[in-house]
Amino acid sequence: MVPSPLKPLAKAIYHRLFRLHLRVRLWCADRVGMPVLDVPLPPAILRYRATESLSVPLFLKVGQGCANLVQRHVSGMGIDFANVRRVLDFGCGCGRTIRWFLRDCGDVEFHGVDADTDAVDWCDTHLRPGHFLAIAPDPPLPYAAEYFDVVYCISVFTHLNESMQDIWFTELRRVLKPGGVLLLTVYGKAAASELDAEEVSMLRSSGFVHKRSPKLKGLVPDWYQTSWHSREYILDRLSAGFEEVRYSIIPDGLQDVVVARKSGCG
Ligand SMILES: C[S@@+](CC[C@H](N)C(=O)[O-])C[C@H]1O[C@@H](n2cnc3c(N)ncnc32)[C@H](O)[C@@H]1O
Repeated sequence: MVPSPLKPLAKAIYHRLFRLHLRVRLWCADRVGMPVLDVPLPPAILRYRATESLSVPLFLKVGQGCANLVQRHVSGMGIDFANVRRVLDFGCGCGRTIRWFLRDCGDVEFHGVDADTDAVDWCDTHLRPGHFLAIAPDPPLPYAAEYFDVVYCISVFTHLNESMQDIWFTELRRVLKPGGVLLLTVYGKAAASELDAEEVSMLRSSGFVHKRSPKLKGLVPDWYQTSWHSREYILDRLSAGFEEVRYSIIPDGLQDVVVARKSGCG
């Protein structure tokens, strides 16, 4: 056991070594043979920022799984993807999900936005025929009200603090058409095993926990941390601006899915 006065020092050394080790792995990952794909693969650092993993098969498998999940849950709200006009991937990162929609999108316009300018630049250069924009971490989005039929956010609200979360719910609702659907993923019960006893108790009492990661200091922006939600909390929060809100637990998944329909009257 490390004596308690030395614990913070031991932790700081561990986190420093973790970051150094990660930088070396990222450097190596871009230099080993990469598979040749019909849609190019983003560099390791961009994949890592989106997935906290360097595995290429995992990046592809999870991205395809997310695209299927979006399609399934949006269809479950009565919206046929083939017949919509515009879809927004809010927090698209390096395009892990949108790349699968762009392969066969017909007349549907797919847009992606993110505060990570490197990721957006990469998408803009490599993922056709998508429309990509780098945005500020705070609203507004550069789109007219009621511009999108569907807005989806994979692993985005799992990172925002409560005030950012609330202003983005309002903004995403603004850009949705009446009757349009917002889909987002959250860390729910299955992911709560990563919390300590005090945090679990906070999740139970307030429904929301936002936790800093000292390990990733300097690798991700400071405002980008990890959040957990209870089912009741998120249903209540979204019910204020949306007429129908559904929560689904994904079997074997760490993240749950929430879909919310904007009222047909605007
Ligand atoms: C875990 S990554 C997921 C990326 C992508 N959705 C995916 O599933 O691969 C979260 C993304 O949300 C973006 N993001 C988080 N907060 C944001 C904000 N306030 N404005 C714009 N982008 C944000 C981050 O930059 C990051 O790319």
